[in-house]
Amino acid sequence: MENNIKGKVVVITGASSSMGEAAAKHLSALGATVVLGARRADRIETLAQEIQDNGGQALAFAVDVTQRDQVKGLVDAAFVQFGRVDVILNNAGIMPLSPMDRLNVEEWDTMIDVNIKGVLHGIAAVLPYMKDQKSGQIINTSSVAGHKVFTGSAVYSATKYAVRALTEGLRMEVKPYNIRTTIVCPGAVKTELLEHITEADIQHKQTKSMWEQ
Ligand SMILES: NC(=O)c1ccc[n+]([C@@H]2O[C@H](COP(=O)([O-])OP(=O)(O)OC[C@H]3O[C@@H](n4cnc5c(N)ncnc54)[C@H](OP(=O)(O)O)[C@@H]3O)[C@@H](O)[C@H]2O)c1
Repeated sequence: MENNIKGKVVVITGASSSMGEAAAKHLSALGATVVLGARRADRIETLAQEIQDNGGQALAFAVDVTQRDQVKGLVDAAFVQFGRVDVILNNAGIMPLSPMDRLNVEEWDTMIDVNIKGVLHGIAAVLPYMKDQKSGQIINTSSVAGHKVFTGSAVYSATKYAVRALTEGLRMEVKPYNIRTTIVCPGAVKTELLEHITEADIQHKQTKSMWEQ
């Protein structure tokens, strides 16, 4: 089978752990150049070094996806260094689940900032390049929680429903530029995601239901 990943320049947000890290390693092994963004600079720098040691091409930049200028900086750096941006994987996300009546309003805001605005910042950063190139692929990570709401997931699910809506709207609009869009909706995957649930009882319940069935 033809490997159409070889030589592609792929920007990945949330590349410092779990699924983002795994995607970076996998795509790099298939010959992609990966440009890694996340807040934990030490982790993505170690990952970039590991990829380079294995003969791949990788760059790492400390990026907070809630900051539009930082996401633009990540994508601009990819373009400056490699002359094109073929793919962005808007993977960064958080899931501090809690029932709404506990009023963890700051966590609601942060989920909106990371899971929705972070994705929008990625889209805004790549669109001008991809329109000029007349090619590109924008991959946004939603979730099964973007299809189904469960107790404690109202805000998280709202953000992941939003990712699907944004991606679907984008799909309709960017067709003339030969830009493809993809929505990824993982089920339960054992990652660091549950570590950020601040409500102990919810974290316990969620850990049991997701990973200890
Ligand atoms: N695990 C699951 O069961 C599951 C199911 C469905 C969907 N998902 C989605 O899959 C994606 C990846 O999650 P994961 O399961 O791999 O969990 P994870 O290990 O917690 O990874 C989340 C990643 O997002 C990054 N991130 C969080 N806030 C950020 C910010 N403000 N700026 C930049 N990066 C930020 C983290 O990096 P830093 O902390 O270094 O910034 C980390 O690399 C998320 O969008 C999640 O919602 C996961």
